[in-house]
Parts: sequence; structure tokens; C-alpha cells
Amino acid sequence: MRDEPIELAAALAGFDQLWSPRIVTRVNDYDVRIAKVAGEHVWHVHEHTDEFFLVLDGELRIALRAGAEEREVVLPRGAVFVVPRGVEHRPSSAGGASILMFEPSGTSSVGDRHETVPDHVDATTGHAL
Ligand code: NI
Repeated sequence: MRDEPIELAAALAGFDQLWSPRIVTRVNDYDVRIAKVAGEHVWHVHEHTDEFFLVLDGELRIALRAGAEEREVVLPRGAVFVVPRGVEHRPSSAGGASILMFEPSGTSSVGDRHETVPDHVDATTGHAL
């Protein structure tokens, strides 16, 4: 954890990899992570934790699945959304987006259960900036 302010724009400019979250800082036992995204992530579920999203730039969509019921939420820049624990979800962005996530340190980007992870998705607990 740094003891100086972190400019998110500068942090985002420091990497290009998509769907590969960077840990900006920690709050107690939670990570603040940022990621650049485009296209589709993978259906997955976090059994034990909610997952917070804030859209910094672009538009993020999150498909949500509960049993046979499926819906999609649309998050424009500046929107926040929490995916509840246990709910299957698949983030996507047609035009590309930058997002911030807040979740317990050690949380896998592809959850505890997931469909086959495509090559363009990084299965990680977050990388250092
Ligand atoms: Ni997730």
C-alpha cells in the first residue's frame, strides 16, 4: 500500500491488458482494483462475497443469472452496482470500459465456479500496479 495519492487515470495508463485487474490500494482486508475491459468476461460466481463495481469510463453491462432467470444491468460512466454473493454474472463491454472493483483481498476474478475461461480473460486475484 502506498502512502501517496494515486491518480487513477495515470494508473490506468500504465497497463493495456484487458480483464486483468490491478490492485490500486487496500482498505482493511479489501482490495480496490481497476481494470480495462472490452468484449465479454466469463460467467462465474463468488459464493462468499458481494462484488462492487464502479464505472470510471465507458459503459459496462453485467448479465445476471439466478436459476432460469437472466437479466442484464447497464452501467454508464459513474454508475455503481453490487453483484450479490452467490449470483452468477458475466460482465461485458461492447465499446470498452475502465472499471473499479472493491472486494475482499484474494477474491478470484473468475470466482469460485466459472465456465471455461477464454484466453482473453485473466484468472487472477489481482496484480500489483
Ligand atoms: Ni465477479
